[in-house]
Amino acid sequence: MNTVNTPFGFDVLTNENRPARHDNHYQRCLSSLRGLFSDEAAYEAELAKADPVVYEVYEIRRPEIAGELPHGLSVVHPGQVGTEFYMTKGHYHAVRDTAEVYYCLKGRGLMLMENEAGVWAAEEFRPGRLVYVPPGWAHRSVNLSLDEDLVTLFVYPGHAGHDYGAIEERGFRKLVMHNDGSSAIVDNPAWK
Ligand code: 6PG
Ligand code: NI
Repeated sequence: MNTVNTPFGFDVLTNENRPARHDNHYQRCLSSLRGLFSDEAAYEAELAKADPVVYEVYEIRRPEIAGELPHGLSVVHPGQVGTEFYMTKGHYHAVRDTAEVYYCLKGRGLMLMENEAGVWAAEEFRPGRLVYVPPGWAHRSVNLSLDEDLVTLFVYPGHAGHDYGAIEERGFRKLVMHNDGSSAIVDNPAWK
């Protein structure tokens, strides 16, 4: 991590859908996402065939303090489990009153959001479009394309932290499904 307080700049998107610099890169394979997709039988059937990378993240890390702005690229690959599109796990920030900005560089998708009062929202991702996630809203990126990566740039406050537990337990209120060549946002029957 670059902790030196010196300005820097870099090309955010090279030809391979990765930034010209990063401190950390991680991949989430299908096998690490058990319980995420609604159709469990389809998940097990897919996993029996292969263990593809569903999404990956390139982080430009910064100290975990309020004045810093960690940022990076999120790349959700195209695909589906059953008829549910590939997506990120989704999380609240551990410090709830912290927001996040996403800017879409490539592809098309949705940012699915909900707050702890059970209110949900979805905002479209397409190149050039910014999505603002206000404080207190869980967020999940969904790739609506079946042949193109969804590439977004994110920036959030250094002290935000991540809370995955609440979403692992409750799920999101809505699911985003592939329906006849299009997409549909439907109720999640397992939502608690
Ligand atoms: C964050 C950002 C972003 C996010 C990735 C992967 O707060 O760090 O929202 O970097 O972590 O898009 O999504 P998940 O963290 O939900 O797996
Ligand atoms: Ni976040």
